[in-house]
Amino acid sequence: MALNLENILLVDDDVHILELLQRHLQTLNYHTYKAVSVKEAIAILQDKTIDLLITDLKMPGVDGLELVKYVSEHFPSMPKLVVTGYPSIDGALEVMKSGVTEYVTKPFTKEELKTAVKKALDSRPKSLSNSQANTVSSTESSGLIGQSDAIKKVIDIINRVKNNKATVFITGESGTGKELVARSIHYSGKFSKAPFIAVNCGAIPENLLESELFGYAKGAFTGAEANRDGFFQAAQQGTIFLDEIGNASLATQARLLRVLQEKEVTRVGSQKVEPVDVRVVAATNVNLKELIAKGTFREDLYYRLTVVEVAVPPLKERKEDIALLANKFLQKYAVEFKDTRMAMAPGVIEALERYDWPGNIRELENVIQRAVIMSDKEVTIADLPDQLKYHIEFPEVEEAFLPLKTVEKEYILKVLQATNNNKSKAAKILQIDRKTLSEKIK
Ligand SMILES: Nc1ncnc2c1ncn2[C@@H]1O[C@H](COP(=O)(O)OP(=O)(O)OP(=O)(O)O)[C@@H](O)[C@H]1O
Ligand SMILES: [Mg+2]
Repeated sequence: MALNLENILLVDDDVHILELLQRHLQTLNYHTYKAVSVKEAIAILQDKTIDLLITDLKMPGVDGLELVKYVSEHFPSMPKLVVTGYPSIDGALEVMKSGVTEYVTKPFTKEELKTAVKKALDSRPKSLSNSQANTVSSTESSGLIGQSDAIKKVIDIINRVKNNKATVFITGESGTGKELVARSIHYSGKFSKAPFIAVNCGAIPENLLESELFGYAKGAFTGAEANRDGFFQAAQQGTIFLDEIGNASLATQARLLRVLQEKEVTRVGSQKVEPVDVRVVAATNVNLKELIAKGTFREDLYYRLTVVEVAVPPLKERKEDIALLANKFLQKYAVEFKDTRMAMAPGVIEALERYDWPGNIRELENVIQRAVIMSDKEVTIADLPDQLKYHIEFPEVEEAFLPLKTVEKEYILKVLQATNNNKSKAAKILQIDRKTLSEKIK
């Protein structure tokens, strides 16, 4: 599966449309940035290299048409695709005059979108394909091991965001490597000399929250004998990693939203506003949409956080990577514990590949670590935990499907019923001759 190199900026105040667009474009392997307003879109345009703008026209506040005009003026070679629910003739004329390249009307199909995107991208002057020139595909710098298409997609996104400060949102089951992805974004990019600060959002006590995140001023409370920086000041010029963001209290969420909007913080006990220049990367292994529905997570914060999304796939969806990862971990622990190199006995990799890894890479690493401790020169199947040793197959598939004969019989009976037992009519419908039908009935 080839990855498309183009970056597409999606702008719509309707988050459902935004997500639909994102889903479609991601399955077509484009990389997307999302914005819910013209203001946000312009901030992204100033910061990133964008190859195509896809925007809605009718939006509260600044209108989509203004955005189209802005882009025509500032990025003359960038194609503009408008998604609109109002394909009125008058409107269309004005839009065309403002330089829109392509149109899609709501509701649109994936195919219509695909065609329009392709046309719009093809309309670019040939020498000016924006992001392609400066995209360096480097798998090594990220520190992530893997060769599956799934992990390549993740690495591709890391390479796109590592040198800019777009807010990145990482999702994935426990142990899939979310923190590693966050670190890779920071350490493989040009801000790597600045600090990377990881914050476990659920672990900060409520009463310390503000001062932990934003620092305090001397005299703010008893014991505050000098100014102290919070996590945000500590991460200046670098990256703050908000881990387990789903566990942040509503009070924390409100404060975080303000930082993301205003890009400034105020210390506890101080009036002074301090600008902060940090890249925010957030991660979660829970479904934030469910928390939003329950009212425990702010929807506005969710959309601020998800400018760029990285979904780290579970290990069972990238079994091609198991052998590679297992061997890396094997050598790592063999050298660490036994000061030697070790081998894997025949059949071990196959056993590892059969298993579904609910604990993902962390579980794989633990299994290999334990096996190294338990064995001498070579890791064998006997060194693996029980759930991997015994390979029991359940005949689920066989039970779920019926034999052809049974299906045929049931279908013939249905047709006979529908034709009031008229064998000639039934034979005609079934496209067999009457004699064959009589035989089958017998
Ligand atoms: N692609 C990979 N290549 C090498 N090591 C990996 C890879 N992905 C994850 N790991 C390792 O697996 C372990 C778990 O990764 P990490 O802590 O990043 O997962 P996580 O998604 O943050 O998990 P949790 O949700 O439990 O916090 C770490 O030791 C990490 O280094
Ligand atoms: Mg983690």
